[in-house]
Amino acid sequence: MAFTRLLPLLLIFCSVSAVDKRGSAQGRGFIGYKDPFEADLVVVDKTTAEVLKSNLTTVFIPIMYIIVFAIGLPANGMAIWVFLFRTKKKHPSSIYMANLALADLLFVIWTPLKIAYHFNGNNWTYGEPLCKVLIGFFYGNMYCSILFITCLSVQRYWVIAHPLSQQRKNNKVAISVCVAIWAFIWLTTTPLYLYDHTAKLKDPNVTTCHDVNVIEDPLNPFPSVQLPFYYFIFMGMVVFLVPCVVIIVAYILLLRALGNSMDDSAAGKNRQKAVVLIVTVLVTFLVCFIPSNIMLVVHYSLLKDGVINNGYGFYISTLCLASLNSCLDPFIYYFVSEDFRDHVKNTLLCRSSRTVERMRVSFSSMKYSRKSNSYVSSGNTQSSSC
Ligand SMILES: *[C@@H]1O[C@H](CO)[C@@H](O)[C@H](O)[C@H]1NC(C)=O
Ligand SMILES: *[C@@H]1O[C@H](CO)[C@@H](O)[C@H](O)[C@H]1NC(C)=O
Repeated sequence: MAFTRLLPLLLIFCSVSAVDKRGSAQGRGFIGYKDPFEADLVVVDKTTAEVLKSNLTTVFIPIMYIIVFAIGLPANGMAIWVFLFRTKKKHPSSIYMANLALADLLFVIWTPLKIAYHFNGNNWTYGEPLCKVLIGFFYGNMYCSILFITCLSVQRYWVIAHPLSQQRKNNKVAISVCVAIWAFIWLTTTPLYLYDHTAKLKDPNVTTCHDVNVIEDPLNPFPSVQLPFYYFIFMGMVVFLVPCVVIIVAYILLLRALGNSMDDSAAGKNRQKAVVLIVTVLVTFLVCFIPSNIMLVVHYSLLKDGVINNGYGFYISTLCLASLNSCLDPFIYYFVSEDFRDHVKNTLLCRSSRTVERMRVSFSSMKYSRKSNSYVSSGNTQSSSC
């Protein structure tokens, strides 16, 4: 899908990671070996140690996560609130978007730990269980988001192609699909809880979370990364490639259905809305899901052979970009849901309009002191509707 557009992105990040790891031609992609003298410590090569101390992992990546947290938490929190309490007529699309927002929120609430970890010089001080939780929710969120976006895309097509289908029946289908997706995601993230993600390094004196893969036997690296290797290949095929194909087909059919009904004026508006949604989803995939899923497969394929791999900085950058989906999904809600759009506009404008109102009230109560009662009460009703 649009590999010609992906290429410049890849090149930019290649150069970023190349600059960051200057002068380190030899290095094995973040493999750590058990220290033969102190069995609980892991030894890493010079390149790995350099990347762990570099600005990329201790400054750039945590800043990205701060952005994810600062935008993702309020935007998705508001989305859930709007879809649960402020959407009078529940459509399947608002059910999918509420679930998408919930998936994002479940990931975003753990990002402060990740921010602290990177700012701390990639030193994980919260223990193995919390590291597992963080990783589980990170990948759970990524695959969950892909699936819910797929459902939403198919639903958008369905609404256009079958405008008279029954609302209640569709809602039942949507709820069942969401339950099935959550069950599937909880089930498929369990492999991530089955192996240790933290590694206590000898130099630098840090404990990494998910960054260094410990290889038990340097001559035979495959058994040590077998589980994540099969896991990410499977998820890449089933939860990335298949949804990609479904989304592309859904959008082609959607555009074709809209093209056929060009004769009335509403169709033009529908078409414009559909195109905006498609562009948003396309950007989300190009930035978040395509680079990370390709690099996950590439990374673990190289790891399993113990191949020399200088793309580590690039690989973790793509994973960091994947977390941006929590900030991009609110744009999808914005373009699809009128209720969410109204609430965003109100929230962004509320303070200023309330301030204007308060100023107007105080000004008029000074001017018309005898009529102040009626003015204050009218001012109150207006600001409380905000
Ligand atoms: C590394 O950390 C250990 C505690 O985990 C501490 O005892 C040791 O002094 C540290 N070494 C350096 C060089 O900072
Ligand atoms: C990482 O954290 C451990 C445990 O809190 C500490 O002993 C170690 O010195 C820290 N390393 C660095 C480089 O700060």
